[in-house]
Amino acid sequence: MRVYLDNAATTPIAPEVVEAMLPVLKEGFGNPSSTHYYGRQIKALIETSRRTVARHLVCEPSEILFTSGGTEADNIALYSAVNQMGVNHIITSTIEHHAVGHTAEAISRTGKACVSYVKIDSKGNVDLEDLERLLQLEGKAIVSLMHANNEIATLLPLYEVSQLCRKYNALFHSDTVQTMGHYPFNLTELDIDFITCAAHKFHGPKGVGFLYINKKVKPDVLIHGGSQERGLRGGTENVYGIVGLAKAIDLAYEDVEAHQNHVQSLKSYMIEQLKKMFETIDFHGEIDQEKSLYTVLNVCFPKTDKASMLLFSLDLKGVAVSGGSACTSGATKGSHVLEGIGADMTRPNVRFSFSRYTTKAEIDFALEQVKSVFTVALA
Ligand SMILES: Cc1ncc(COP(=O)(O)O)c(C=O)c1O
Repeated sequence: MRVYLDNAATTPIAPEVVEAMLPVLKEGFGNPSSTHYYGRQIKALIETSRRTVARHLVCEPSEILFTSGGTEADNIALYSAVNQMGVNHIITSTIEHHAVGHTAEAISRTGKACVSYVKIDSKGNVDLEDLERLLQLEGKAIVSLMHANNEIATLLPLYEVSQLCRKYNALFHSDTVQTMGHYPFNLTELDIDFITCAAHKFHGPKGVGFLYINKKVKPDVLIHGGSQERGLRGGTENVYGIVGLAKAIDLAYEDVEAHQNHVQSLKSYMIEQLKKMFETIDFHGEIDQEKSLYTVLNVCFPKTDKASMLLFSLDLKGVAVSGGSACTSGATKGSHVLEGIGADMTRPNVRFSFSRYTTKAEIDFALEQVKSVFTVALA
């Protein structure tokens, strides 16, 4: 048996998504910018997909900019804020995904904006008083804080942060890559400037996502070229990907509560079983349902001198998990997120992440394998 519990890295594509993409792959070859029949047909598919996304997020279709995924969307949000909207202060945290963290660092090296890091506690919660203090500093700010941490699952109170940003006239960007398709969004109620999406995190195709840009902020050309994406992002659109994204978001929100209940029950079960299995077991980040992304569980196992072999041993036993974000798993460098929350880096950690396709039998199998690895390691 093999189980895949690394859904925060990426999810398997849903069969219905493949079905939706196939006819476009086979026959939809027209260039969406062409004005003839072939082009118009494909252009219509893109605009229908944009309307689908907007309907789910309760925003306007013109506020959705299709991108190559989460990284590009995060980059565009920060770069356009600094280069086009007069921002000279980026307020973020040390536990953001590198798509935000490295972008903020790169911008700070240009001297166009300085970066402040808001205080966070040992569970990854943002200190809202410290955020307010930073917002009072001079200059035009953008706050960039992720909705759910991809490694430790801690959720940000989006509405509270949005209100604070508005009070101090700051822009607000949230990396919602891990929560899009997993929690409902209402962007008519939530006052935010940018949120981001990667379709492959909710059973859509890889290499496609979007950036929501609030109509109140008006970026200029982001990628020079043709007039695609209302002239903001030149380049022939990833039509197959966009169609797949729209189908994936439809499926994700069709029954989001049922998905949430199913996955949350697996996560709670795993927590319970691990607590029974080990005398000393801890979890990185929040685990309370209201404060924690239900698809991710980051386990801090007892110390063992075989710690470095843990992921490898589980993989050999058929359990695919990760020790952090996908880009750092397998690398020797420790997780910047665990470092950021001051975690005990001498204890082995594993991120288990689930999807709506995960079954209890798979969790039981994974638990058995964990037990057998530790029976040897702790003996
Ligand atoms: C929180 C977060 N932001 C951004 C990204 C990057 O998304 P993409 O792989 O679509 O560029 C990821 C992917 O791991 C993520 O988890």
